Amino acid sequence: MTEKKIHVEVIPQLKDNYSYIIFSLKDKLAIIIDPAESKSIIKYIKKNNLKPGAILLTHHHKDHTAGVKKILDSFSCNVYSPNKDITETTHIIKHNDIIKFDNLCFKIFATPGHTLDHVIYHEYNNNILFSGDTLFRYGCGRVFEGTYKQMLSSLNIINELDDVTEVYCGHEYSLNNLNFLESVFKNNNHLILEKKILKNQIDRNGCTIPFNLGKEKDLNPFLSRKSPFYCSFMKEKKYNDLAMFTYLRDLKNSF
Ligand SMILES: [Fe+2]
Repeated sequence: MTEKKIHVEVIPQLKDNYSYIIFSLKDKLAIIIDPAESKSIIKYIKKNNLKPGAILLTHHHKDHTAGVKKILDSFSCNVYSPNKDITETTHIIKHNDIIKFDNLCFKIFATPGHTLDHVIYHEYNNNILFSGDTLFRYGCGRVFEGTYKQMLSSLNIINELDDVTEVYCGHEYSLNNLNFLESVFKNNNHLILEKKILKNQIDRNGCTIPFNLGKEKDLNPFLSRKSPFYCSFMKEKKYNDLAMFTYLRDLKNSF
């Protein structure tokens, strides 16, 4: 087994948000993702003697950015975001950019749909994805600013990433998302089994993050529809990918 070189700390914030701190165990340079609040982040950094290196933001919504200002009052570090209107931004990033902090290397993908400015950060040395509000476990973000077509192509970008990728998303919506899938795809053995696994995980520690992308490609029809049970559903309804996505997203909006 290879020695673990990095750690991702999951920081629950607000009602159901997640912020993250990723750092290499050797140099302790900390990269903070989407801080909604500052206190818990600052506390963790101080307690673990980390060196704040940068803040990465996925999109402009306040529940992903509101902690930035106070973090900057405590530490000075660069703020990477896709949107100059996020006032604390020091570096604007765009699709296909790569940003490196010692041995942490992030490739940026623009994933418009939830918002028009949305980006995700793929740390490709360790196969870790910070998916913000684009991909959730068993679901995807609500499409506020973009079109369904845009959101679907954004999710297709994630679908192309390696199955071993571990995903850290912006909210704890897993149980609700799985309940929704069960309400549409009734008596589906795969979903029933998954619910048992998920409930076990929630009972153990309340948090269902991170999750494996390969497994997600089998179970999450917003991300991929390759599983036989989704294929046959689409065939029956004569849906292509966009029609299936539209059908599910519309239903989920009122679930
Ligand atoms: Fe959002």
